[in-house]
Amino acid sequence: MTGGARGEGAREEVARTEGVRAEGAWDPGRTPLLSVRDLTRYFPVKGKGLLPGRRAQVKAVDGVSFDLHAGETLGLVGESGCGKSTTGRAILRLLEPTSGEIHFKGKDVRAMGERELRTLRRQAQIVFQDPFSSLNPRLTVGDMLTEVLKVHGLHGDAPGRRKRARELLDLVGLLPEHADRYPHEFSGGQRQRLGIARALSVEPEFIVCDEPVSALDVSVQAQVVNLLKDLQAELGLTYLFIAHDLAVVEHVSDRVAVMYLGRIVEIGPAEVLYRDPRHPYTRALLSAVPRPDPGRRGETGRIVLEGDVPSPVDPPSGCPFHPRCWHPDRDASCSRIVPTLETTLDGTGRRVACTKVATSSDPHP
Ligand SMILES: Nc1ncnc2c1ncn2[C@@H]1O[C@H](COP(=O)(O)OP(=O)(O)O)[C@@H](O)[C@H]1O
Ligand code: SF4
Ligand SMILES: [Mg+2]
Repeated sequence: MTGGARGEGAREEVARTEGVRAEGAWDPGRTPLLSVRDLTRYFPVKGKGLLPGRRAQVKAVDGVSFDLHAGETLGLVGESGCGKSTTGRAILRLLEPTSGEIHFKGKDVRAMGERELRTLRRQAQIVFQDPFSSLNPRLTVGDMLTEVLKVHGLHGDAPGRRKRARELLDLVGLLPEHADRYPHEFSGGQRQRLGIARALSVEPEFIVCDEPVSALDVSVQAQVVNLLKDLQAELGLTYLFIAHDLAVVEHVSDRVAVMYLGRIVEIGPAEVLYRDPRHPYTRALLSAVPRPDPGRRGETGRIVLEGDVPSPVDPPSGCPFHPRCWHPDRDASCSRIVPTLETTLDGTGRRVACTKVATSSDPHP
């Protein structure tokens, strides 16, 4: 973890990213581990589009941009269906992006061929919400782990791989004898530990944690979150930590990005975002989280959003949040003008996509 002090000047960040593109080499001191610009992923869906001859499409991810530095955790939150998983998968090219740029360690991910993608698949892993569905029920845990090591040519011969499998179980807080058991013999929390052990088996640098604790009992959630934090400190990992609940990511995230209908509406240092959320959507989400120190919530109380998230097939015009926005300054311009992410004036490096929040004209995403 690097602490929340990532408020470097936006212009400096642009320069760094341009450096990545120009040189193609990666310098962890200067450039992000992961840089995403204007990422989109649209899915064609059945039914007619708005224009004749055009098919309707779900704009699952619609112009997402962020940087992620080595050793950092970016929390990605928003209601179900807002495009979090699609973002996580598109970054790793488990789903092909529709457009946009992705650079990982200075390399253009979208231009990668088979060989480079294989390397990427080792360096960047994903941990899913439902560990059981991603574990082969017919393999013992030891065989599952040694199989992954074998496929990637890691840890030499069979005894070497078995030894490593036991080390991996130890790393995630399980016992060596668990190697002989099958996935169904484990509890939910233990299965998620297995999912993490499998992800770690290829010694990745970056992990997309896609709602890794959402299916677990609340009491177990904290244990798994703490395990991920400990592993990050021990192994220097970088996380994109996805959750639909702001409370879950608060204690793991250096920075947090809030998504709504395929876009980031607010992104900034976690400490700033939880203490003083600015986007009306973030404020509504946070007002629903019980907090010992109510902070800004004390001013506004619980904000109950009216209606459901609109369909991403036919998103609202202008600000996508306008049909549900509770902000007193909301006006007719909100349904016409699409707000872009702009830096707030508080010097924290936080960016907000709302025309009614005071921002500088810095165009950086
Ligand atoms: N394969 C797909 N085909 C069509 N629509 C999809 C597909 N995958 C996701 N979607 C749609 O894209 C939107 C974003 O989904 P997703 O990224 O899974 O959201 P989240 O992870 O935030 O819950 C949703 O409206 C979802 O229904
Ligand atoms: S731009 Fe308007 S509708 Fe959108 S969040 Fe801001 S006040 Fe609300
Ligand atoms: Mg999801």
